[in-house]
Amino acid sequence: MTIDKNKLIASFTKRFNHAPEAVSRAPGRVNLIGEHTDYNEGFVMPVTVDREVAMAGRLNGTALLRIHSIDFNQSVELPIDQLTPQKELDWSNYTAGVVKHLQKAGHTVKGMDLAFTGDVPRGAGLSSSAALELCSCVCIELLNGIELDPIERVKMCQQVENQYVGMNCGIMDQFISNMGDQTHCLVIDCRSLEFERIPLQLGDCEIVIADTRSPHKLTSSAYNERRSQCEEGVKLIGKALKRKISALRDVSVEEIQKLSAQLPEPIRSRCQHVVSENARVQLARELLKAGKLEEFGLLMNQSHISLRVDYEVSSVELDELAWTAWSMPGVLGSRMTGAGFGGCTVTLVRSSEVETLKSKLDERYYAPRALEPRVYRCMPSAGAIAEKI
Ligand code: GLA
Repeated sequence: MTIDKNKLIASFTKRFNHAPEAVSRAPGRVNLIGEHTDYNEGFVMPVTVDREVAMAGRLNGTALLRIHSIDFNQSVELPIDQLTPQKELDWSNYTAGVVKHLQKAGHTVKGMDLAFTGDVPRGAGLSSSAALELCSCVCIELLNGIELDPIERVKMCQQVENQYVGMNCGIMDQFISNMGDQTHCLVIDCRSLEFERIPLQLGDCEIVIADTRSPHKLTSSAYNERRSQCEEGVKLIGKALKRKISALRDVSVEEIQKLSAQLPEPIRSRCQHVVSENARVQLARELLKAGKLEEFGLLMNQSHISLRVDYEVSSVELDELAWTAWSMPGVLGSRMTGAGFGGCTVTLVRSSEVETLKSKLDERYYAPRALEPRVYRCMPSAGAIAEKI
């Protein structure tokens, strides 16, 4: 755990006047490649990071769900059998939504006291919300004697985000937060939900995350707009190819190129990104297994360009961080990661050059904006887990 368990337990005890029975944690994530492909039933390659959300909890013998955010120093108290999404104190929706969805699935959930804290930066595109959902879920399961199948848990937490929180995300973030581990990245087939663990053997290289510190204005509206443009693309391509296509996953790079004159903009560019990104993930998987990291890095750069030019989800800040990295010796590849419109870049760089990269990013990006640099070496951590104490 990166969060101090004893401090968490002490905060819980201070807030609720009794000690917790269980603690849990779940990590944030960074996506190495495969952006905006998950909701197109395609492929993604995320890895967990050593930043997490942690929760302490106990049954309280009442019909109330009491949730305390240690970081906001705010609490809510909700009737456990009549949960509805909160407009104010909306941080509580991630946890209350888990309870609601467990109930919907037929589980009995008793009144509980829960307190949580985290060090996944919020709004930075490192999936603090998925981490909160997963750490809530495993904690609530343990307290109530429920044990979901891991994939069912992932799917349920995605539904919480889609239906209770109201953000129509794909499945990648919840999947990696639950299924990730300390030594592998995952390649997830977001259609079948089959996945492969690939050892993250980076030799003399490492993964560095740089935060633009411009919180991703992941206005659900821009995200949803991209989703519907992809759906529109599926319809048009299906008509043009005269075969049934249920998602962009079913379209090949050759096909999208052949059809380019027939598809209106921006539908063509959106589809071009998704189809080419899926192909890049497939290739990246083989390159990583073969230890061909230079070529892997080039795919990361191509992914950034495609996200910027065709999918139009990059930002001035993301471009500046990625381009500065591209200009540096020892950098194999750099790209925006997550939904875009702000958030972080992910960079593959030789360990010997990490410090030089950091200073350059500071000089070119952070210092001129009077921002404290936020550049981290990424160490994968274990997936979601809860324990009795
Ligand atoms: C957000 C969503 C994910 C995925 C990425 C883009 O992180 O939560 O499901 O769509 O954006 O790849």
